Amino acid sequence: MLEVEGLQKRYKQKTVLENCSLQMKQGEIVGLVGENGAGKSTMLQLLATIMQPTKGEIRLDGLSYKESVKEVRRKIGYVPQDISIWEEFTVEQNMLFFERLSWKKRTQEECRQLCIDMQLTHWKEGVQSLSGGMKRKLNLAISLLHDPILLLLDEPTVGIDLKSKTEIGTYLHSLAKNKGKMIMYTSHDMDEITNVCDRVYSIGKDSFYMDLLQEKGIPVEQLR
Ligand SMILES: Nc1ncnc2c1ncn2[C@@H]1O[C@H](COP(=O)(O)OP(=O)(O)OP(=O)(O)O)[C@@H](O)[C@H]1O
Ligand SMILES: [Mg+2]
Repeated sequence: MLEVEGLQKRYKQKTVLENCSLQMKQGEIVGLVGENGAGKSTMLQLLATIMQPTKGEIRLDGLSYKESVKEVRRKIGYVPQDISIWEEFTVEQNMLFFERLSWKKRTQEECRQLCIDMQLTHWKEGVQSLSGGMKRKLNLAISLLHDPILLLLDEPTVGIDLKSKTEIGTYLHSLAKNKGKMIMYTSHDMDEITNVCDRVYSIGKDSFYMDLLQEKGIPVEQLR
């Protein structure tokens, strides 16, 4: 379980997140929506331990982020908004490189299977020659190497064609429902959010997304 209480993030004079509280249970896929600059990436970076909040508490499976950050990190997979893989390597070399950095050991076959699960079959191909969508799939496969319980995905499907989006959505669904992972992800595609997420948090004072998603019958709560 993920528990967030009274989270605040201030960048110098600017307060981006204020008194945000949320929870997630195993097996849930939760969307995070809001206009550009609302604070979605900030929230994911706080949950990914990449930044510290200026106020508030976060706990994952009862572990406090402040007291047990090392242990917490082992349980988190994070895909940043900007793709971060080695362009000059092949898919295989990327997977094996990141496997060596991971605390969990994986065989070459297991690494390959993670890519196949995502319909990424270009094992020997150079990353430079992959499409944007394939690179995103590779980034996602890398984030799963250490079998995290919490997956934080920042716009994982931006610029991806509908077929790949659907494949990724189906895969995320199986990760949550069959393997009990908690998944939080951001997207500006409300159809996708509606199709994939169990429920949604909307960041920001504007009720635009709240209204839109409520109309579609998706449970949504506002964070400020
Ligand atoms: N390192 C930083 N220093 C100062 N301000 C920052 C920093 N990172 C983000 N911000 C500001 O915080 C606000 C929230 O940014 P954030 O990237 O979290 O928004 P977002 O919801 O992810 O937006 P987008 O939809 O464009 O990705 C913005 O106003 C941004 O300018
Ligand atoms: Mg962002």
